[in-house]
Amino acid sequence: MTAPLRHAEPIVVPVTLGARAYDIVISRGLIACLGERIKALRPGAKTAIVTDATVAKRHLGAAENALKAAGIKSSAIVVPEGEGSKSYATFETVCEAIIAARIERGDLVIALGGGVIGDLAGFAAASVRRGLDFVQVSTTLLAQVDSSVGGKTGINSRHGKNLVGAFHQPILVITDTALLDTLPQREFRAGYAEVAKYGLLGDAAFFTWLEANWQEVFSGGPAREHAIAVCCRDKAGIVARDERETGERALLNLGHTFGHALEAGAGFSGRLLHGEAVALGMVLAFDFSARKGLIGEADSARARTHLASVGLPTHLKDVPGGVPGIDALMDLIAQDKKVKRGKLTFILVRGIGQAFVENDVSAAEVRAFMADKLSSA
Ligand SMILES: NC(=O)c1ccc[n+]([C@@H]2O[C@H](COP(=O)([O-])OP(=O)(O)OC[C@H]3O[C@@H](n4cnc5c(N)ncnc54)[C@H](O)[C@@H]3O)[C@@H](O)[C@H]2O)c1
Ligand SMILES: [Zn+2]
Repeated sequence: MTAPLRHAEPIVVPVTLGARAYDIVISRGLIACLGERIKALRPGAKTAIVTDATVAKRHLGAAENALKAAGIKSSAIVVPEGEGSKSYATFETVCEAIIAARIERGDLVIALGGGVIGDLAGFAAASVRRGLDFVQVSTTLLAQVDSSVGGKTGINSRHGKNLVGAFHQPILVITDTALLDTLPQREFRAGYAEVAKYGLLGDAAFFTWLEANWQEVFSGGPAREHAIAVCCRDKAGIVARDERETGERALLNLGHTFGHALEAGAGFSGRLLHGEAVALGMVLAFDFSARKGLIGEADSARARTHLASVGLPTHLKDVPGGVPGIDALMDLIAQDKKVKRGKLTFILVRGIGQAFVENDVSAAEVRAFMADKLSSA
């Protein structure tokens, strides 16, 4: 990875999905151009901005001003912040508000927020009038590198996360890296786990670059735009080759089977954020790969050292309040990925940047590995 240049022009990452192709535009301060960009794409469209209460306080005014300056009408739909808004009740509120705002075919829904708002507003856009166009203005690092790319939208069921939803691609993603300046440090750091994930799963040169440049990604210099652009390019490439997750897209789940089990064990609470669980999960995936002889200890130590150096949890003992016991953990792992005749599917690695799907992992082997980890925690 070469050193990032200071980009006078925004970086544009195209997501090449035929008729559903769109651009991810990345730049510091880009929200000021929101209206101009929308006007160029959909002249004459009205807009409804879906956002959460926290993001509304910080950034709704800037979005509204940018639209107004371009002569675009907008109405705001503000929902409570947090995962709880990915519910049937809030989905209903948002759909009804979009209809009440007279947003019709040819108009636009704008999702202004993190992954929760992107998933919720995207699903509402997919549903109202059997499909409205939508634009994502992502305001968390996680949303900028992950949830705004690829078109998965949806809400949660009482049976589990993201069980009700649709594939619905946005027509434009506006990624203003300055919006991340107001994000709590812990949220930023959790999103960084997904940044590191792209390096660890398929882009060794990017991982090496991150080891040298992560401080500037955090502090908000040009390295931040560069890192976000690389993540978007990597994910867009995977999504373009496997939009519906029949194969390669599963690699994006590196660290997520172990991670989801730990996240569920913490009750999806503030005790362990998604990205924190993913950091731990990736370390476990590397350690497990080392135990199976797929990689040397040096590679797993390298993954762990980098994640630890940015302040992410990398040991089970780092989870405040502890983790469930082995039986409960194995139940959670089995829930996340179906067990077929005692076999589990995991994303494992043959090196930094060399992840692969392994469908034939024995549950007994995972159990022995996790039991060792728990006893040394
Ligand atoms: N669709 C996908 O492909 C995909 C991929 C990964 C995750 N997700 C989903 O994304 C969700 C998590 O997303 P998230 O981590 O962005 O959570 P989030 O949207 O809840 O945002 C995290 C918190 O940060 C606040 N916030 C957002 N932007 C801010 C800003 N600029 N300044 C200050 N505060 C700000 C929010 O109000 C919220 O409290 C989960 O529901 C997950 O299922 C979806
Ligand atoms: Zn994730």
